[in-house]
Amino acid sequence: MTVPTRTALVTGASAGIGATFARTLAAEGLDLVLVARRKDRLDELAQELTDAHGVRCEVLAADLSDPGAPRAIMAFVEDRGLVVDVLVNNAGMSGSTAFAETPWDSLAAELQVMVTAVTELTHLVVPGMKQRRWGRIVNLSSLAAFAPPGESLLYTGIKSYVLDMSQALDMELKPFGVHVTALCPGFTHSEFHQTMGSAEAASALPSVLWQEPEAVVRAGWASVNAGKPVCVPGLVNKVLSHGMRPVPFRLQYVLGRTFNPFKH
Ligand SMILES: NC(=O)c1ccc[n+]([C@@H]2O[C@H](COP(=O)([O-])OP(=O)(O)OC[C@H]3O[C@@H](n4cnc5c(N)ncnc54)[C@H](OP(=O)(O)O)[C@@H]3O)[C@@H](O)[C@H]2O)c1
Repeated sequence: MTVPTRTALVTGASAGIGATFARTLAAEGLDLVLVARRKDRLDELAQELTDAHGVRCEVLAADLSDPGAPRAIMAFVEDRGLVVDVLVNNAGMSGSTAFAETPWDSLAAELQVMVTAVTELTHLVVPGMKQRRWGRIVNLSSLAAFAPPGESLLYTGIKSYVLDMSQALDMELKPFGVHVTALCPGFTHSEFHQTMGSAEAASALPSVLWQEPEAVVRAGWASVNAGKPVCVPGLVNKVLSHGMRPVPFRLQYVLGRTFNPFKH
């Protein structure tokens, strides 16, 4: 029996962790739908992956801060006769200015890209995954989800939401063959800090705190396939996450699943 080629949708595939996910999944023979705003970058990556691995790569330039983006992405996928077997909700950025000084449009964009679009894309792909009884969803959270709230930053709260929501979904969907993992990297070499305007401060941090995106993606992809709902990649990050959250997340997950009086 031949196994059909699976398709992965990767958001934020034009740089950093997203581009690395695309390379890793293409190397495993998955077809890809690559989404971000910078189409030139996506086209270049699609060509590279098709040449190297012979996989099909579809490219869509989309701004996930546009509330219509998740539906437009799914329409694009369906128009091409594809289904999403693997969803990597990766696109993200962090604001760096004080809440009161930041225009509402910027805050709304952060929430739209990293909360609403993540949730809506997941909601759009889950019924098909459930029906086919196979699916893998990786949601990019962060070590920041374990950290104390950062003054003026929506980022820690947003990534905490992603961490919680991913575990809740994993509980609901695992019986249907759909695994959901919150991937929680610490400092990772990418364009993130340039975009945030914090590259100089970030470069002053000790190198032991940093990981390459390849290591992050390897750990995240292995975790979702192994059915682990939370992945903190790297020993240093693991130690930090446990230090910052006294109840280990594995125990939290078990407690959350066991003692939920509102379970349906
Ligand atoms: N790097 C770190 O230290 C770190 C640590 C923990 C978690 N993370 C998380 O990991 C994820 C990936 O970050 P990264 O480090 O790989 O950063 P990156 O190199 O800056 O890449 C961010 C990606 O998100 C895309 N993106 C941003 N805004 C978008 C929008 N409005 N619409 C569509 N795509 C958008 C960017 O593409 P375009 O600009 O082309 O649209 C880019 O492909 C993020 O969710 C981030 O929060 C990063």
